[in-house]
Amino acid sequence: MITDPQEFYKKLEDAASYTRSKIDGFAPQVLIICGSGLGGISSLISNKIAIPYGTIPGFKTSTVQGHAGELQFGFIGTNRVPVMCMVGRLHYYEGYEFEDATFGVRLAKELGCDTVFVTNAAGGVRKGFKPGDLMVISDHIYFAGFSGSHPLRGPNLEKLGERFVPMSDAYDHSLRKTFFDSARALGITRSIHEGTYFFAAGPTFESRAEVRAIRTLGGDSVGMSTVPEVIVARHAGLRVFALSLITNSCVDTPAPSALEDDPVAMDDGIASHKEVLEYANEASKDVERIIQHAINSL
Ligand code: HPA
Repeated sequence: MITDPQEFYKKLEDAASYTRSKIDGFAPQVLIICGSGLGGISSLISNKIAIPYGTIPGFKTSTVQGHAGELQFGFIGTNRVPVMCMVGRLHYYEGYEFEDATFGVRLAKELGCDTVFVTNAAGGVRKGFKPGDLMVISDHIYFAGFSGSHPLRGPNLEKLGERFVPMSDAYDHSLRKTFFDSARALGITRSIHEGTYFFAAGPTFESRAEVRAIRTLGGDSVGMSTVPEVIVARHAGLRVFALSLITNSCVDTPAPSALEDDPVAMDDGIASHKEVLEYANEASKDVERIIQHAINSL
């Protein structure tokens, strides 16, 4: 938790000055955060300048396989929209504090971004969701926040945003429309839903009973990222678009009873990080095309 706002502002300014010194007057407009297996989005960027997280003062590095850990700056699309891309994100389950996991968002704002595109790999909770489907996020459930585990806990950073931030319209309606329009214009046949993302801190995948609970609460997809970044982005006044790539169907059937002899396969459909990366890889080309089109249309 941030206890000293002045100290944090200094840390943010140091990171911003260092980054500015590397990008030579470049002014990013859109921050893109690549989810698990979706680092290929960065291949859309031209005239690229890459800065490893580890070289930026105050920026922590990521430990997860499939999350390289660098900021990339450059242009997307024929309209040459200036972007900043986080290839590799920091998760709360890795042990980072929220302010470290979300540092890139605040840095993006400091560098002039007004919009953020967040992507993630997520489990499918809504019945009928299949691996490889996409879900545009229209709302979220931040269950951890109900008990006070929250990225904005602590003294408010008055220079960045207000104390009480509404989350009722966190996911920008016109950006969502742009994304659907782009998918249509490109003739993408993959199913694209709209729904509510449920943040579960991880790193375990959910139990069967937890999946049923999440569905009952109104979650359509579940994952271990995104919401802390979205909250910090909304605090800073950034417009937010967020997308889940469904990489697995969450197992929701009751655990086979040991009171019966029925030899139900215990591992039927169990989620794994390997499966997450495989599906992300397969769908990432479509995600890249739609994101390129949508950002080019901003
Ligand atoms: N649960 C949580 N996070 C995830 C999942 C899941 O099933 N799949 C990909 N990320």
